[in-house]
Amino acid sequence: MKLVTNKQQLSGTVHVPSDKSISHRSIMFGSIAYGKTVVKNFLRGEDCLSTIEAFRALGVNIEDDGETIIVHGEGFEGLKKPARQIDVGNSGTTIRLISGILAGRPFASELSGDDSIAKRPMARVMNPLNQMGAVCSGHEGTEFPPLTINGSEKLQPIHYDMPVSSAQVKSAVLFAALQAEGMTTVVEKEKTRDHTEDMIRQFGGSIAVNDREIQVTGPQKLTGQEVTVPGDISSAAFFLAAGLIIPGSKITLTNVGLNPTRTGIIDVIKQMGGKITIEEVSSENNKAGTLTVEASELKGIEISGEIIPRLIDELPIIALMATQAEGITVIRDAEELKVKETNRIDAVANELNKLGADITPTDDGLIIRGKTSLNSGRVTSYGDHRIGMMLQIAALLVENGSVELNRAEAISVSYPNFFNDLEILFK
Ligand code: S3P
Repeated sequence: MKLVTNKQQLSGTVHVPSDKSISHRSIMFGSIAYGKTVVKNFLRGEDCLSTIEAFRALGVNIEDDGETIIVHGEGFEGLKKPARQIDVGNSGTTIRLISGILAGRPFASELSGDDSIAKRPMARVMNPLNQMGAVCSGHEGTEFPPLTINGSEKLQPIHYDMPVSSAQVKSAVLFAALQAEGMTTVVEKEKTRDHTEDMIRQFGGSIAVNDREIQVTGPQKLTGQEVTVPGDISSAAFFLAAGLIIPGSKITLTNVGLNPTRTGIIDVIKQMGGKITIEEVSSENNKAGTLTVEASELKGIEISGEIIPRLIDELPIIALMATQAEGITVIRDAEELKVKETNRIDAVANELNKLGADITPTDDGLIIRGKTSLNSGRVTSYGDHRIGMMLQIAALLVENGSVELNRAEAISVSYPNFFNDLEILFK
């Protein structure tokens, strides 16, 4: 696909699409709760549609009138052995979180997905679930999908010190803990997104959170709720970056979810010297607001440590911002980027360097030397939605020649309207 190039003075307002993490969880919680869950502003990206299909395969009645989703949950007990392998498509969140739910069900299920899913590490969820009494295994003795989950109705609670900072792993253990008899404790390495904890409370469950220590005592019965999904700051990030680095721009983003475990990019923008204003609008369950950015002179910074999980999905677009900042930006402690939809350390360095950036990939991050001008070229998303969107924003800076993006279709995983929303900003 030929990307849009050579744009200046982007201006206007984009209503960002709904949060992917919360959309997945709304279907999962609706399915394991008793009664009706009504989901408003559900994200119709391919990943979240995979979650709907997965729970339908487990016998859950999920209605979709094109606007609202209604999940008719019958508790954990209502889930039935699937007739065939469950296909999670490209969605790591679906396969990891559903594993925690299936770990406590009295039947065997098989989970599989696309070529990218076949390379995602799963020992991180299988290990704690096996400790709790499930029998989970990967393909031919490896940790990789297709996965087989032999659930057990008699899960044991565990004390789990997480070896990786991952909200997906934490969530899988918490879903299993809701079914185990007794108290499970999970201790995070660093605090990660806490939507699962929020939704256990929202659905009437009980959970104790003390900084990085989380305790759930099972078994628990949850009750269906009404969920209104806020906008996704991880999708807003592409337009935040565009507004900051495209000369003469001013962009407003409405309905942006502002859960503090997700707002690391705002801290980074401020540290880089970016002009950003935030107007918070409070809502019952999720903090949200309106963000406005203006083209700014950015400077290179170091990004490492506890902030990394709070901006993990934004690092590709932050790397692009760093190519337009004066000085060196160093990203460290981000080895998790290697096991996302693609190896995002290599993907960012390879593709932006093809366009003229000066980026060195490291074992746990990137070293980006700015400011560089970007040129025409042929690039690929590697089938990764966030790499694809980042490259389209990069292309806007290319003044001469064209930028051709291979595998652009991946973008619909999280942002099906990305190109239409971008067009709103061209005058
Ligand atoms: C997610 C957690 C993160 C993130 C992913 C969504 C979630 O993954 O990268 O896009 O919804 O829990 P990890 O838990 O692997 O860090």
